[in-house]
Amino acid sequence: MTTRRVLLSALPLIGVASCGEGGDAYAQAVAATWVLPPASGAAGLPVQALVQAATLAASGHNTQPWRFVSRGRELIIQPDLSRRTPVVDPDDHHLFVSLGCAAETLLLAATGRGWSGEARFLGAAEGVAVNLSPGRQAPDPLCAAIARRASTRADYDPRPVAIPSLRALAASAGPHVALSLITDRPRLDALTALIIDGDDVQVADPAFRRELAAWIRFDAAEALARRDGLFSRSSGSPALPRWLGSRMFDLAFTVKGEADKIARQMANTAGAAVFTGPSDDPAGWVAVGRAFTRFALTATALGLKLAFLNQPVEVWRFQGRGCRIHRRRNVLVSSTG
Ligand SMILES: Cc1cc2nc3c(=O)[nH]c(=O)nc-3n(C[C@H](O)[C@H](O)[C@H](O)COP(=O)(O)O)c2cc1C
Repeated sequence: MTTRRVLLSALPLIGVASCGEGGDAYAQAVAATWVLPPASGAAGLPVQALVQAATLAASGHNTQPWRFVSRGRELIIQPDLSRRTPVVDPDDHHLFVSLGCAAETLLLAATGRGWSGEARFLGAAEGVAVNLSPGRQAPDPLCAAIARRASTRADYDPRPVAIPSLRALAASAGPHVALSLITDRPRLDALTALIIDGDDVQVADPAFRRELAAWIRFDAAEALARRDGLFSRSSGSPALPRWLGSRMFDLAFTVKGEADKIARQMANTAGAAVFTGPSDDPAGWVAVGRAFTRFALTATALGLKLAFLNQPVEVWRFQGRGCRIHRRRNVLVSSTG
């Protein structure tokens, strides 16, 4: 079994060269991880390379809640329940979306190496099976984008996305998940209000803060040692030792500060995407993760940056202004720009 933790965690490259202690080792590890491994030339299924690619997929809090099991030409992506985040994700919605992200990334990596196949949801305990067989090798722009995709939490460029690119994004999610692309200012503003209201609830919740802090890696040495979680620098915070970083987090992570940041990011985004799954259960959540991954890789191939703003989904009992978002809708929110 291989995990991204063994390889390295998913952390944006911004500023890694100046991370202080562990910085050089960290930068080297990032450079070694965020590549698609070269083809070995061997005839069989390149299991190690495909799993390495799959571990570059998005996951909630970068928990990487998966285990990979290889059985001939079948790779099974099992849920790793020891990596649950029960406060932000009490019913494992994000965990199964993350499995869908890994499954789709694995499938696309296989396509780029001349293997084709399909993913099948086995059940909440078993996970997702990906069956592969030799196909025709052809360069695939989505496969090429796997090692360049990242959640970008910096401010965006608000210039509109070109119509052909919007069409490509609209088509990317596939037939099983409904995708709403929102680009007009009134609806973006309404969505911003929903996101901020959800965020207010979370930031004021001590349990949410505790769980989030446990997944923050406050400096490069900690990120390298744990190889998972959220490196503080990826959100623009300074790298600090845990004893100091956790105190700074307590002081700086405020309802107003986070609301201002979301308002600024949403004011400058070119658009937002809302994904609605076919069912509100683990199978539907896996489908959302797969659709999101195709969307994210299409955006990356087009030179667009994106990030999740999932607060309205996470605060599931939340009732918005004139609009009700609840878990039956099974949505993910991202913004592109
Ligand atoms: C289901 C799901 C929900 C997520 N929700 C959020 C979110 O609300 N806010 C956020 O900043 N990132 C969110 N993320 C992004 C993860 O933090 C990110 O994927 C992880 O840190 C790995 O980084 P990467 O996407 O750059 O590889 C979410 C990811 C997934 C899969």
